[in-house]
Amino acid sequence: MSTPASVDHRILEFGRQWRNKPVLREIYHDLYRRMAGELAQGRTLEIGSGAGGFKEFAPDVITTDILSAPWLDLVADAQALPFAADSFGNIVMFDVLHHIEFPRRFFSEALRVLAPGGRIVMMEPAITPLSWPFYRFLHAEPLDLNADPLHDGAPAQDRDPFAANQAIPTLLAGAHRTQFAAAFPQFKIAPPRWLSLFAYPLSGGFKPWSLIPYGLVKPLLKLEEALLPVLGRLMAFRLMTVIEKRRP
Ligand SMILES: C[S@@+](CC[C@H](N)C(=O)[O-])C[C@H]1O[C@@H](n2cnc3c(N)ncnc32)[C@H](O)[C@@H]1O
Repeated sequence: MSTPASVDHRILEFGRQWRNKPVLREIYHDLYRRMAGELAQGRTLEIGSGAGGFKEFAPDVITTDILSAPWLDLVADAQALPFAADSFGNIVMFDVLHHIEFPRRFFSEALRVLAPGGRIVMMEPAITPLSWPFYRFLHAEPLDLNADPLHDGAPAQDRDPFAANQAIPTLLAGAHRTQFAAAFPQFKIAPPRWLSLFAYPLSGGFKPWSLIPYGLVKPLLKLEEALLPVLGRLMAFRLMTVIEKRRP
């Protein structure tokens, strides 16, 4: 695929690593499978699609991002979605919630565009005792466990879409869960799913290196599956959250 100059260089770089790293794709496909397994009936909207890896896995998904790219279906800000009420069965997001300036605005919009029984299915960083030092010191994005994940304001026009607080999803699933339930009583939030123990950090993610060969990925993921119920809350690097819009 050609690489148009107008596309944000970080999305292009993600796309390059995605195409060049079978180890990464295998690990992501395992996570995509888990997300796909949570989808409700109806059309699926992806927000923050970036390089578009999820659509390769689920071709019917409608892809959007706040940044434009020729392979995406639409430009859309999660905080002001250009869709009618009750128009989707699902919203999927991979590594996006922690980049949204005001997640509260996204949840209000999700509530509007999802049909009753519709779901938000998100895969995000998990901040656990083991993952915290990695995300805090080895990953370029900020991490602030003292932030209020539901604070509100007017979205800035010139904000960098890659600005982040990696702690937001963990705060919403944990310390701020009650606050979320009070702010959005029409949503039902499922228990957090703590995922990814060794394979993901050892793969180097979107960095050009990997400490594991391709042949070891599937056995490692199988081992993780057995260990997750015991070690997940302490060691997980990924958090999957499923939020359902209640039926009237
Ligand atoms: C880390 S990237 C993840 C991209 C892709 N989902 C993936 O897994 O490779 C985060 C994406 O969220 C997008 N984004 C940030 N703020 C957004 C917003 N308010 N609305 C929609 N997309 C947003 C960014 O432009 C970026 O493409």
